[in-house]
Amino acid sequence: MDYKSLIIPEKLPQHVAIIMDGNGRWAKQHSKPRVFGHRNGVKAVRETTEAAAELGIKYLTLYAFSTENWNRPQLEVNALLHLLVETLSKEIHTLMENNIRLTAIGDLAALPDHTRRALLEGIEKTKANTRMTLVLALNYSGRWDIVQAARNIARSVQEGKLDPDQIDEKHFQEYLATREIPDPEFMIRTSGEQRTSNFLCYQLAYAELYFTTVLWPDFRKEHLYQAIVAYQQRERRFGMISEQLA
Ligand code: FPP
Repeated sequence: MDYKSLIIPEKLPQHVAIIMDGNGRWAKQHSKPRVFGHRNGVKAVRETTEAAAELGIKYLTLYAFSTENWNRPQLEVNALLHLLVETLSKEIHTLMENNIRLTAIGDLAALPDHTRRALLEGIEKTKANTRMTLVLALNYSGRWDIVQAARNIARSVQEGKLDPDQIDEKHFQEYLATREIPDPEFMIRTSGEQRTSNFLCYQLAYAELYFTTVLWPDFRKEHLYQAIVAYQQRERRFGMISEQLA
């Protein structure tokens, strides 16, 4: 099925967020160590980023490393962080050629120095690009985001810069790590797991959720097209009824 031809350009989600899951299981299926799965996951990252930019999606967020991922075996954590630095340095020119801006959300201060440096360098180099923004969620969790926002709001109140009665949703959003990024309309999770796993808890409130059994290293452009077609068939009501939308 040629899903790409079924996509309605005027109904594209502006922001797609992806939980890239199943690298470990993919490696196991190939009788290889887990790291082999992560390495092959990079191919899927490249394909998905390219496909999203070609379609005209403006923001693509990838859950690359959660705050819970520190609990994995040290060897795997090191390999993941190393892979990230390696991929960033290899792919910066691709981002430049394709006019893609890189940014990141998460507790970046707690990342190892060399990881943070590679990331900040990529962000700096690509900051003027305008076609699409690629957001890496790194050392990120949705609850961390809400808690850091609450802490900074409390600080602003304490310093007399903010009146508690002024705090509304719009204000609150300005304290989240995603303050410059619109909420995702669409979230994809690969590997068959059907949960959001502490990813963008606040921001996904109205997102359409899509789960596929494809393991992340096998995810290709055609899978993204298929997901977007499914998104476009959903009716997004935002608490209203069908007749009101018509
Ligand atoms: C989940 O699979 C995947 C991750 C925790 C990391 C994803 C990282 C990459 C694809 C590498 C590079 C990323 C970028 C953005 C350069 P899992 O290990 O939880 O798989 P499992 O559930 O089958 O064990």
